[in-house]
Amino acid sequence: MKISEAIFAGSSARVTQKPKRKLPEFAFIGRSNVGKSSLINMLTGKRRLAMTSSTPGKTKVVNHFLINDSWYLVDLPGYGYAKLPDRMRRELAEVIRDYIHNSEEMQMLFVLVDSRHDIGKIDIDFLSELGENGIPCGIIFTKADKLGPVALAAQIEKDKAILSETWEELPPMFASSSEKGRGRDEILDYIDSILNCTK
Ligand code: GTP
Ligand code: MG
Repeated sequence: MKISEAIFAGSSARVTQKPKRKLPEFAFIGRSNVGKSSLINMLTGKRRLAMTSSTPGKTKVVNHFLINDSWYLVDLPGYGYAKLPDRMRRELAEVIRDYIHNSEEMQMLFVLVDSRHDIGKIDIDFLSELGENGIPCGIIFTKADKLGPVALAAQIEKDKAILSETWEELPPMFASSSEKGRGRDEILDYIDSILNCTK
């Protein structure tokens, strides 16, 4: 799929405040600093569309980006950043919970996992909750440029084995590098296939 237009459409802390146009939404979640905002920039080919930072906890609200005037990419805050004040952490958890459970337009939630490390308990628990609630999800292994091809394949296999302990059928998986553009075609084609089903 070709992205010809990507426009910032608004920030919201609750689903009641999100952009009013009802269009299919594809959202990105994962640990703070895993590369959600960078991936949105890579997919859209706009380096400064979503704000990124080397410091965790950058994205604090839900950001909608209107793509080709027909669907949204959605950037969510990260979870699991221990250094945030308690009140802020609770608020971010509520922003995430509200969007995931109440956004009727969300077609798919991509859970981003850093490809350099074993998938963490926080990600496994998060994915389990999605499974239990029947929320469609996929997994994207980010920062793939930081590993060689053999190490990357081995890490993904290891994570698959860990997830297979709780998942009968694994969600779709992708490897990405926002630095190198890796995974772009696969992820956009996957989104396109879902959009075609909803037409
Ligand atoms: P929060 O909004 O804080 O939850 O973070 P985020 O998940 O949106 O991460 P963000 O996109 O801001 O990226 C965090 C850091 O990781 C930045 O310094 C990025 O440059 C870096 N980064 C993101 N993706 C990649 C990647 O594919 N490869 C490399 N090498 N670095 C990346
Ligand atoms: Mg972010």
